[in-house]
Amino acid sequence: MTTERPQGFSGYHRQQDWAEDPELTHTDRGTPCGEYLRRYWHPVAMTEEVTDLPLLVKVLGEELVLFKDKSGEFGLLHKHCSHRGASLEFGIVADHGIICCYHGWHYAIDGTLIRAGSEREDGPICKKVIHGAYPVIEKDGLLFAYLGPSELRPPFPVFDTQADYGVEKVPFSLSAPCNWLQIYENTQDPVHVVHLHSNVSGIQFGVASGVDQIIEYQDSPLGMINIQTREVNQFVWNRTVESILPNANQTGAIWEEAQSEKFFQRSSLLRWVVPLDNTSARTIGWRYLSVELDPDHQGNRSQIGKESIDFIGQTATERSHEEAQRYPGDYEAQVSQGAIAIHERENLASSDSGVARLRRLLRQRVTELQAGNEPTPQAQREAETVSTYTQDTVFRACLGTDQRKAFGQAVAKTVINSGDKSPEERVLMVKQTCDTFEGT
Ligand code: FES
Ligand SMILES: [Fe+2]
Repeated sequence: MTTERPQGFSGYHRQQDWAEDPELTHTDRGTPCGEYLRRYWHPVAMTEEVTDLPLLVKVLGEELVLFKDKSGEFGLLHKHCSHRGASLEFGIVADHGIICCYHGWHYAIDGTLIRAGSEREDGPICKKVIHGAYPVIEKDGLLFAYLGPSELRPPFPVFDTQADYGVEKVPFSLSAPCNWLQIYENTQDPVHVVHLHSNVSGIQFGVASGVDQIIEYQDSPLGMINIQTREVNQFVWNRTVESILPNANQTGAIWEEAQSEKFFQRSSLLRWVVPLDNTSARTIGWRYLSVELDPDHQGNRSQIGKESIDFIGQTATERSHEEAQRYPGDYEAQVSQGAIAIHERENLASSDSGVARLRRLLRQRVTELQAGNEPTPQAQREAETVSTYTQDTVFRACLGTDQRKAFGQAVAKTVINSGDKSPEERVLMVKQTCDTFEGT
């Protein structure tokens, strides 16, 4: 069968009425993905954003007011007062909870009405009214909230790279005027690293990351990883980049040059892509700083924070539009896909198998929840340390293409299978795996 090649100059005849993919891109309460995301803790602000005044925030399409009361507890309440709807953004932070500016209704951080202004304390209104509220946990400069059903609240997870192993954790938050998914799925699109960050815009993240790579994908206990394996001079460099479902991601050293041996070196950031609504999102997380992760001191702590990060191409404000056009980065590529990228309009190729896999995994989870099966929590106990699978390994060896591929697979297998071991044991296990390739 022969297929006729489409004719040129077909602009007029192109289909225009493309459908969205709401199952993965719409996140309001009651939507399939919105409900799925509401089964997890998400960072909603940096602690430093909350002053003595309440802070209006948007999360998953909900307008909320975040505050720290005078006893030091954080509250996250529905914006509109349960009395007659004034915004609690103008409320007065109290010793415990917050008092609406309009008639003085006083709410505890869990939404309990402590006092209904001038109404009798034992009157019926206090017994009847409960205001919408969500629990908040502060962790290392970030404020996490759980917006799901209170009876399904999962344990708060602590990922292993958050442990103190000599890295400094610096909170950051970056906003973007587009749907959350196009930011998140970029992390399973390693092909763009060579094209966008090396060939098109010049070297944005290290010379070695521009070297052609063998890429494979596989599921992990928390979601999926991509396995990148490159030959760099006399070394073979393996990197595993991880998506922690539903919306977190880790990656290795930003400016890795693979110039010396290392085994199971951990992540340079942990971040969550949190939908504010369907057409805007915030990437919130920690940059991890250490000499091992950045031996040439290319990072800059003073650039990490609100709407700012110390690597290129992540915001609209850091460069002129012309500079962004000449040297586009992740921000330009992701935001320019549109407010909500239309999946039906795309032509996914073999190089998009990571993106396709990530969407498939998310869709599976979303569909399972719709069928009544709750997702497995990331942690089984409160504040349990959860093993993750992001790392860089650089090993001195001269391997042919097939061996290099086998090397990448073997390291990734060890990384995945060592999740129940200590960090030191995992380093040793990866090194032992590498050693089996010595002299091959
Ligand atoms: S509107 Fe808030 S107390 Fe009346
Ligand atoms: Fe990128």
